[in-house]
Amino acid sequence: MTANILDGHAHAQIVIDKVASELDRLPRAPGLTVVLVGDDPASQIYVQSKVRMAERLGLRGEVERLPDDASEADLLARIAALNARDDIDGILIQLPLPAHIDALRVMAAVDPAKDVDGLHALNAGRLFHGDDALVPCTPLGCLRLIKSIRPDLTGAHAVVIGSSNIVGKPMAALLLQEQATVTQTHIHTRGISNICRQADILVSAVGKAGLVRGDWIKPQAIVIDVGTTRVEKPDGGYAVCGDVSFDEAVQVAGAITPVPRGVGPMTIACLMENTVKAAKARSARLQ
Ligand code: GUN
Repeated sequence: MTANILDGHAHAQIVIDKVASELDRLPRAPGLTVVLVGDDPASQIYVQSKVRMAERLGLRGEVERLPDDASEADLLARIAALNARDDIDGILIQLPLPAHIDALRVMAAVDPAKDVDGLHALNAGRLFHGDDALVPCTPLGCLRLIKSIRPDLTGAHAVVIGSSNIVGKPMAALLLQEQATVTQTHIHTRGISNICRQADILVSAVGKAGLVRGDWIKPQAIVIDVGTTRVEKPDGGYAVCGDVSFDEAVQVAGAITPVPRGVGPMTIACLMENTVKAAKARSARLQ
Protein backbone atom coordinates (compact mmCIF):
# COMPACT_ATOMS: atom_id res chain seq x y z
CA MET A 1 0.00 0.00 0.00
CA THR A 2 1.28 3.52 -0.71
CA ALA A 3 0.43 6.78 1.01
CA ASN A 4 -1.91 9.51 -0.13
CA ILE A 5 0.37 12.23 -1.59
CA LEU A 6 -0.59 15.65 -0.24
CA ASP A 7 -0.47 18.02 -3.22
CA GLY A 8 0.70 21.38 -1.82
CA HIS A 9 -0.29 23.29 -4.95
CA ALA A 10 -3.88 22.05 -4.89
CA HIS A 11 -4.28 22.84 -1.17
CA ALA A 12 -2.58 26.23 -1.60
CA GLN A 13 -5.06 27.11 -4.35
CA ILE A 14 -7.92 26.68 -1.88
CA VAL A 15 -6.28 29.25 0.44
CA ILE A 16 -5.48 31.58 -2.48
CA ASP A 17 -9.08 31.47 -3.75
CA LYS A 18 -10.35 32.43 -0.29
CA VAL A 19 -7.83 35.28 -0.05
CA ALA A 20 -8.85 36.55 -3.52
CA SER A 21 -12.50 36.68 -2.48
CA GLU A 22 -11.62 38.69 0.66
CA LEU A 23 -9.57 41.22 -1.31
CA ASP A 24 -12.72 42.55 -2.98
CA ARG A 25 -14.02 43.67 0.40
CA LEU A 26 -10.95 45.77 1.31
CA PRO A 27 -10.79 49.52 0.70
CA ARG A 28 -7.39 49.22 -1.04
CA ALA A 29 -4.94 46.55 -2.15
CA PRO A 30 -2.84 45.35 0.84
CA GLY A 31 0.89 46.07 0.64
CA LEU A 32 3.59 43.50 1.43
CA THR A 33 7.31 44.26 1.65
CA VAL A 34 9.86 41.47 1.76
CA VAL A 35 13.26 42.58 3.01
CA LEU A 36 16.22 40.60 1.67
CA VAL A 37 19.69 41.11 3.14
CA GLY A 38 22.51 39.68 1.01
CA ASP A 39 22.35 37.40 -2.01
CA ASP A 40 21.77 33.87 -0.71
CA PRO A 41 20.57 32.02 -3.86
CA ALA A 42 17.80 30.04 -2.13
CA SER A 43 16.48 33.18 -0.39
CA GLN A 44 16.41 35.05 -3.71
CA ILE A 45 14.16 32.36 -5.18
CA TYR A 46 11.85 32.27 -2.13
CA VAL A 47 11.53 36.07 -2.12
CA GLN A 48 10.73 36.18 -5.84
CA SER A 49 8.03 33.53 -5.40
CA LYS A 50 6.43 35.46 -2.54
CA VAL A 51 6.34 38.77 -4.38
CA ARG A 52 5.19 37.17 -7.62
CA MET A 53 2.27 35.48 -5.87
CA ALA A 54 1.35 38.78 -4.15
CA GLU A 55 1.26 40.56 -7.52
CA ARG A 56 -0.68 37.75 -9.17
CA LEU A 57 -3.35 38.13 -6.49
CA GLY A 58 -3.53 41.92 -6.85
CA LEU A 59 -1.60 42.78 -3.68
CA ARG A 60 1.17 45.38 -3.87
CA GLY A 61 4.34 43.34 -3.38
CA GLU A 62 7.80 44.87 -3.18
CA VAL A 63 11.30 43.71 -2.29
CA GLU A 64 13.74 45.87 -0.35
CA ARG A 65 17.31 44.68 -0.87
CA LEU A 66 20.25 45.38 1.40
CA PRO A 67 23.82 44.28 0.75
CA ASP A 68 25.35 41.36 2.65
CA ASP A 69 27.49 43.77 4.70
CA ALA A 70 24.58 46.04 5.69
CA SER A 71 24.73 46.84 9.40
CA GLU A 72 22.04 45.91 11.90
CA ALA A 73 21.40 49.66 12.32
CA ASP A 74 20.77 49.98 8.54
CA LEU A 75 18.25 47.17 8.68
CA LEU A 76 16.52 48.55 11.80
CA ALA A 77 16.23 51.95 10.09
CA ARG A 78 14.58 50.33 7.03
CA ILE A 79 12.15 48.49 9.29
CA ALA A 80 11.26 51.70 11.14
CA ALA A 81 10.50 53.36 7.79
CA LEU A 82 8.27 50.43 6.73
CA ASN A 83 6.50 50.47 10.13
CA ALA A 84 5.66 54.14 9.53
CA ARG A 85 4.27 53.64 6.00
CA ASP A 86 0.48 53.55 5.92
CA ASP A 87 0.36 51.68 2.61
CA ILE A 88 2.38 48.71 3.93
CA ASP A 89 0.37 46.09 5.82
CA GLY A 90 2.90 43.26 5.94
CA ILE A 91 6.66 43.18 6.54
CA LEU A 92 8.68 39.99 6.15
CA ILE A 93 12.42 39.87 6.85
CA GLN A 94 13.73 36.92 4.84
CA LEU A 95 15.80 34.50 6.94
CA PRO A 96 18.55 33.55 7.41
CA LEU A 97 20.15 36.93 8.10
CA PRO A 98 23.93 37.39 7.88
CA ALA A 99 25.68 36.22 11.07
CA HIS A 100 26.58 39.76 12.23
CA ILE A 101 22.88 40.67 12.56
CA ASP A 102 20.85 39.66 15.65
CA ALA A 103 17.67 38.13 14.21
CA LEU A 104 15.73 38.41 17.49
CA ARG A 105 16.44 42.14 17.74
CA VAL A 106 15.34 42.54 14.14
CA MET A 107 12.09 40.61 14.67
CA ALA A 108 11.35 42.71 17.76
CA ALA A 109 11.61 45.87 15.62
CA VAL A 110 8.77 44.91 13.25
CA ASP A 111 5.38 46.43 14.14
CA PRO A 112 3.47 43.38 15.54
CA ALA A 113 0.42 44.48 13.51
CA LYS A 114 2.47 44.11 10.29
CA ASP A 115 4.37 40.99 11.39
CA VAL A 116 3.02 38.62 8.71
CA ASP A 117 5.77 36.13 9.58
CA GLY A 118 4.43 35.84 13.15
CA LEU A 119 7.94 36.07 14.58
CA HIS A 120 7.54 39.06 16.91
CA ALA A 121 7.45 37.95 20.56
CA LEU A 122 3.97 39.44 20.94
CA ASN A 123 2.56 37.23 18.17
CA ALA A 124 4.52 34.20 19.41
CA GLY A 125 3.15 34.83 22.94
CA ARG A 126 -0.40 35.21 21.66
CA LEU A 127 -0.11 31.91 19.80
CA PHE A 128 1.23 30.28 22.95
CA HIS A 129 -1.76 31.64 24.92
CA GLY A 130 -4.26 30.48 22.28
CA ASP A 131 -5.12 34.13 21.52
CA ASP A 132 -5.71 35.53 18.01
CA ALA A 133 -2.27 36.05 16.45
CA LEU A 134 -0.39 36.37 13.19
CA VAL A 135 1.01 32.82 13.03
CA PRO A 136 4.18 31.78 11.13
CA CYS A 137 3.18 30.76 7.61
CA THR A 138 4.91 27.37 7.32
CA PRO A 139 3.42 25.73 10.44
CA LEU A 140 0.04 27.25 9.59
CA GLY A 141 0.25 25.64 6.14
CA CYS A 142 1.34 22.32 7.67
CA LEU A 143 -1.63 22.33 10.03
CA ARG A 144 -4.01 22.92 7.10
CA LEU A 145 -2.48 19.94 5.26
CA ILE A 146 -2.76 17.72 8.34
CA LYS A 147 -6.38 18.74 8.93
CA SER A 148 -7.27 18.04 5.30
CA ILE A 149 -6.68 14.38 6.16
CA ARG A 150 -7.66 14.36 9.83
CA PRO A 151 -9.91 17.29 10.80
CA ASP A 152 -10.06 16.35 14.49
CA LEU A 153 -6.64 15.97 16.13
CA THR A 154 -7.95 15.47 19.67
CA GLY A 155 -5.75 12.96 21.48
CA ALA A 156 -3.58 12.21 18.43
CA HIS A 157 0.12 11.83 19.14
CA ALA A 158 2.01 14.46 17.14
CA VAL A 159 5.81 14.41 17.01
CA VAL A 160 7.66 17.50 15.79
CA ILE A 161 11.32 17.17 14.80
CA GLY A 162 13.01 20.54 15.15
CA SER A 163 12.61 23.41 17.60
CA SER A 164 13.19 26.55 15.54
CA ASN A 165 11.23 29.73 16.27
CA ILE A 166 9.96 29.77 12.69
CA VAL A 167 8.63 26.19 12.35
CA GLY A 168 9.24 23.71 15.20
CA LYS A 169 8.02 25.74 18.17
CA PRO A 170 4.93 27.33 16.55
CA MET A 171 4.07 23.94 14.96
CA ALA A 172 4.01 22.33 18.41
CA ALA A 173 1.89 25.19 19.79
CA LEU A 174 -0.64 24.85 16.94
CA LEU A 175 -0.91 21.09 17.40
CA LEU A 176 -1.34 21.53 21.15
CA GLN A 177 -4.13 24.02 20.47
CA GLU A 178 -5.80 21.27 18.41
CA GLN A 179 -5.68 19.07 21.53
CA ALA A 180 -3.03 16.71 20.16
CA THR A 181 -0.48 15.18 22.53
CA VAL A 182 2.73 16.81 21.33
CA THR A 183 6.30 15.59 21.62
CA GLN A 184 8.95 18.10 20.53
CA THR A 185 12.22 16.53 19.51
CA HIS A 186 15.49 18.10 18.35
CA ILE A 187 19.12 17.40 17.64
CA HIS A 188 19.89 16.28 21.22
CA THR A 189 16.85 13.97 21.58
CA ARG A 190 17.86 10.40 22.42
CA GLY A 191 16.12 7.47 20.76
CA ILE A 192 14.41 9.72 18.24
CA SER A 193 13.43 6.90 15.87
CA ASN A 194 11.48 5.15 18.65
CA ILE A 195 9.66 8.36 19.50
CA CYS A 196 8.79 9.03 15.86
CA ARG A 197 7.47 5.48 15.48
CA GLN A 198 4.71 6.38 17.96
CA ALA A 199 3.54 9.39 15.96
CA ASP A 200 0.10 9.56 14.36
CA ILE A 201 1.34 12.86 12.93
CA LEU A 202 5.01 13.43 12.19
CA VAL A 203 6.35 16.85 11.18
CA SER A 204 10.04 17.16 10.36
CA ALA A 205 11.66 20.59 10.05
CA VAL A 206 15.40 20.25 10.51
CA GLY A 207 16.93 20.51 7.01
CA LYS A 208 18.76 17.18 7.11
CA ALA A 209 18.19 15.32 3.85
CA GLY A 210 16.80 11.80 4.28
CA LEU A 211 16.94 11.84 8.12
CA VAL A 212 13.56 10.17 8.61
CA ARG A 213 13.67 6.58 7.36
CA GLY A 214 10.73 4.34 6.50
CA ASP A 215 11.12 2.36 9.74
CA TRP A 216 10.72 5.57 11.83
CA ILE A 217 7.12 5.84 10.66
CA LYS A 218 4.01 4.33 12.24
CA PRO A 219 1.81 2.64 9.63
CA GLN A 220 -0.81 5.09 8.28
CA ALA A 221 0.78 8.14 9.97
CA ILE A 222 0.46 11.61 8.42
CA VAL A 223 3.99 12.73 7.51
CA ILE A 224 4.76 16.39 6.81
CA ASP A 225 8.20 17.17 5.41
CA VAL A 226 9.32 20.79 5.86
CA GLY A 227 12.97 20.12 4.96
CA THR A 228 14.46 21.71 1.85
CA THR A 229 18.14 20.86 1.56
CA ARG A 230 19.95 21.70 -1.68
CA VAL A 231 21.98 18.69 -2.75
CA GLU A 232 24.47 19.10 -5.61
CA LYS A 233 24.04 16.80 -8.60
CA PRO A 234 26.91 15.40 -10.71
CA ASP A 235 25.88 17.70 -13.62
CA GLY A 236 26.58 20.80 -11.46
CA GLY A 237 22.89 21.50 -10.85
CA TYR A 238 21.15 20.79 -7.59
CA ALA A 239 18.14 18.91 -6.28
CA VAL A 240 15.98 19.98 -3.34
CA CYS A 241 15.65 17.13 -0.83
CA GLY A 242 13.32 16.79 2.13
CA ASP A 243 14.06 15.48 5.64
CA VAL A 244 12.13 12.30 4.89
CA SER A 245 13.35 9.38 2.76
CA PHE A 246 10.29 9.67 0.55
CA ASP A 247 10.56 6.35 -1.31
CA GLU A 248 10.68 4.43 1.96
CA ALA A 249 8.12 6.55 3.83
CA VAL A 250 5.52 6.43 1.08
CA GLN A 251 5.26 2.64 1.61
CA VAL A 252 4.34 3.05 5.29
CA ALA A 253 2.59 6.39 5.84
CA GLY A 254 -1.12 7.07 5.33
CA ALA A 255 -0.43 10.52 3.84
CA ILE A 256 2.80 12.34 3.03
CA THR A 257 3.95 15.65 1.55
CA PRO A 258 6.44 15.48 -1.33
CA VAL A 259 9.46 17.80 -1.64
CA PRO A 260 9.14 19.99 -3.65
CA ARG A 261 5.42 20.78 -4.23
CA GLY A 262 4.37 19.91 -0.70
CA VAL A 263 4.68 22.41 2.14
CA GLY A 264 6.37 25.20 0.07
CA PRO A 265 3.27 26.39 -1.85
CA MET A 266 1.27 26.37 1.39
CA THR A 267 3.81 28.68 3.06
CA ILE A 268 3.36 31.26 0.30
CA ALA A 269 -0.44 30.95 0.31
CA CYS A 270 -0.53 31.44 4.10
CA LEU A 271 1.70 34.51 3.74
CA MET A 272 -0.91 36.01 1.42
CA GLU A 273 -3.61 35.12 3.94
CA ASN A 274 -1.64 36.72 6.79
CA THR A 275 -1.10 39.88 4.74
CA VAL A 276 -4.83 40.22 4.09
CA LYS A 277 -5.55 39.46 7.76
CA ALA A 278 -3.09 42.21 8.83
CA ALA A 279 -4.59 44.65 6.31
CA LYS A 280 -8.12 43.96 7.53
CA ALA A 281 -7.14 44.39 11.19
CA ARG A 282 -5.23 47.61 10.43
CA SER A 283 -8.06 49.10 8.40
CA ALA A 284 -10.57 48.28 11.17
CA ARG A 285 -8.26 49.92 13.72
CA LEU A 286 -7.72 53.04 11.60
CA GLN A 287 -11.45 53.63 11.00
N1 GUN B 1 13.32 31.55 5.18
C1 GUN B 1 12.81 30.34 4.85
N2 GUN B 1 11.48 30.30 5.13
C2 GUN B 1 11.16 31.51 5.64
C3 GUN B 1 9.93 32.08 6.11
O1 GUN B 1 8.86 31.47 6.12
N3 GUN B 1 10.01 33.36 6.56
C4 GUN B 1 11.19 34.04 6.57
N4 GUN B 1 11.17 35.29 7.05
N5 GUN B 1 12.32 33.55 6.15
C5 GUN B 1 12.32 32.28 5.67
